[in-house]
Amino acid sequence: MDLKLFDRMADFLPDVCFERPPDVAIVLGSGWADALSADRTFARIPYADIPGLGAATVVGHTGEFWLYERAGRRVAAFCGRRHWYEGVGWETVVFPVELLRRMGGTKLLLTNAAGGINPALKPGDFVILKDHINTVGINPLIGPVVEGWGPRFPDMTEVYTKHLRDVLHGAANRRGLRVMEGIYAFTSGPVFETPAEIRAYGHIGADVVGMSTVPEAVFARACGIQVAGLSLVSNLAAGISPRPLCHEEVLAATKTAQGVMSGLVEDFILDC
Ligand code: HPA
Repeated sequence: MDLKLFDRMADFLPDVCFERPPDVAIVLGSGWADALSADRTFARIPYADIPGLGAATVVGHTGEFWLYERAGRRVAAFCGRRHWYEGVGWETVVFPVELLRRMGGTKLLLTNAAGGINPALKPGDFVILKDHINTVGINPLIGPVVEGWGPRFPDMTEVYTKHLRDVLHGAANRRGLRVMEGIYAFTSGPVFETPAEIRAYGHIGADVVGMSTVPEAVFARACGIQVAGLSLVSNLAAGISPRPLCHEEVLAATKTAQGVMSGLVEDFILDC
């Protein structure tokens, strides 16, 4: 990991970003980026302008950092994310978490679109992450111990903070949404999984599958940041779905769920 790159990214941002810790940070995954509304904007910067970060390359990922206020809460929003499968290194993937840490923030909501493995799930459902399985073994913390990034062997007993899971449950209940807590299997992508892989992940306890979130979650947890994870089931996973998978299906599902997603994110910001 090139630590100097984080310095360059952070140095580029205006001072207002470091004046006061954000009350909450959110990372918005595929199709989630329109879920936000602000009362007052402090900074709005395309990823492409931030040295070393670069534009989001995945359709559906806007690629914009936004610092704003909503109902008196200061929010750092990362609209769109960079992924490990883009092949440009961990710095771009974990930059939102490192920036949040440098800003002094302590709460992080990670959102994503995911494939449904648990037979109870259907497209359009939401899953509050209770835990995850890293099927890949890759991890942004592999490397030297860095001051401020936690111990050599960070505990991962409760990656997704109970209190924040309860906040998401409250938001979902208020909106009459049926949500379950579930386990997210992280794969490297960029390929979707094979049916045999999905059967295997189901056997070992995964409810949903996706190509993001876990690197940021473990990095944040190691640093002592409280993490919440929320998946929108955008499709049934491979072999469960009656048709081949494609990114267009993922985007279409997030578009349909836009209004609900906005509500959940808004409630989380206010209640966490
Ligand atoms: N697999 C992996 N990642 C995903 C999926 C999926 O089925 N759907 C959305 N992201």
